[in-house]
Amino acid sequence: MSIQVKTKDSVYNVHLGESILQFFCERQADALAKYDHLVLITDKNVWSLHEEYVRTNFTLPFKLYIVPNGEACKTFESYYQVQSFLLEENCTRNSALLALGGGAVGDLTGFVAATFMRGIPFYQIPTTILAHDSAVGGKTAINHPNGKNMIGAFYQPTGVIYDFHFLKTLPEAEVRSGLAEVIKHALISDANWMDDFLALPNLKAIDKKELLRWLEKGIRVKAHIVELDEKEQSYRKFLNFGHTYGHAIEATIGYGKITHGEAVMIGMIPALMLSELHGNVTAGYAKSVYDLANRLGYNFKHVLQCPFEILSKFMLKDKKTTNGELHFALLQKIGDPFVQKISMEEVKKCDEQLREWVKEGNE
Ligand SMILES: NC(=O)c1ccc[n+]([C@@H]2O[C@H](COP(=O)([O-])OP(=O)(O)OC[C@H]3O[C@@H](n4cnc5c(N)ncnc54)[C@H](O)[C@@H]3O)[C@@H](O)[C@H]2O)c1
Ligand SMILES: [Zn+2]
Repeated sequence: MSIQVKTKDSVYNVHLGESILQFFCERQADALAKYDHLVLITDKNVWSLHEEYVRTNFTLPFKLYIVPNGEACKTFESYYQVQSFLLEENCTRNSALLALGGGAVGDLTGFVAATFMRGIPFYQIPTTILAHDSAVGGKTAINHPNGKNMIGAFYQPTGVIYDFHFLKTLPEAEVRSGLAEVIKHALISDANWMDDFLALPNLKAIDKKELLRWLEKGIRVKAHIVELDEKEQSYRKFLNFGHTYGHAIEATIGYGKITHGEAVMIGMIPALMLSELHGNVTAGYAKSVYDLANRLGYNFKHVLQCPFEILSKFMLKDKKTTNGELHFALLQKIGDPFVQKISMEEVKKCDEQLREWVKEGNE
């Protein structure tokens, strides 16, 4: 199956399904053979788990470059090393990159591709649930010591090959991390879909087939929004649902000490409380999603480690904050997002409510 993504300057397909890597490789063999070099960039973890599968199924010749696992690859150093490798291997404007990994490898590889010789094609081969989100939409970036994703570009991939085979080895914490973005896609697009989640008793109860169907739906939501607004001037801001407070939690706890998705799950609760106040979301909905998140094993105790003064500083530093005004993606009703200016006082009230719930749960 494939989903087309059309932006102003590009059209590409997201191919998805179980064990599709070989099929993709065969179908695209002529197109891929036109590149003078194919360079696969992956992280240590992914390569140690999936080298054999990739070597068996990706039948064209490629060069390999392995970066550190996860967030540790989104550094200036890795960026520089990959660029040096491409130059040493005599790559040209006619070479292409393949990003095999989670969002971190995808973001790094995309930014390398955007800038090597002023831009070369790249393919995303996502291996995490979270990357159903990050591999689509063309945001690429590395981190600066002063902030995450501060150096980057909008640069769309030439294709995305989402082979569900890779998901089999994902640890539970990464399943949870990715699932938070799937739940976000449900919240901003479809109340009935959200009811499927609310009916879940725990993480184990998620049926594999159902998960794959949800990933497809999530990709469609993301693709649609990116088509409407590639460069985040309007609709794309809806994708930040849960991220204003979530990013502040992530930054306060420390990147790598909490997964992106877990922080987003936490951030969606204040965003839902604000949606009850500013939109028409039924009173009590935020609490029902909070209870769901607890059943799925998200750890809200992180909040208690983050003084609100620090969270508020991070929220003010957010790329989306302008002139000290917080712009929150909220829901008019489930499935119907909008952006609203919110005062820090209001966020503080939601933060206090959330802390109470967490403390009650601990008693
Ligand atoms: N570009 C975007 O639009 C966008 C959107 C959301 C998030 N992001 C970025 O994505 C990153 C997070 O992505 P992520 O959660 O995929 O993280 P990740 O790439 O850091 O991967 C998480 C961990 O899982 C491991 N892993 C990856 N695939 C695996 C597999 N199949 N089996 C076992 N282990 C595997 C990795 O080695 C890593 O240790 C962040 O840097 C975030 O900023 C980007
Ligand atoms: Zn996110």
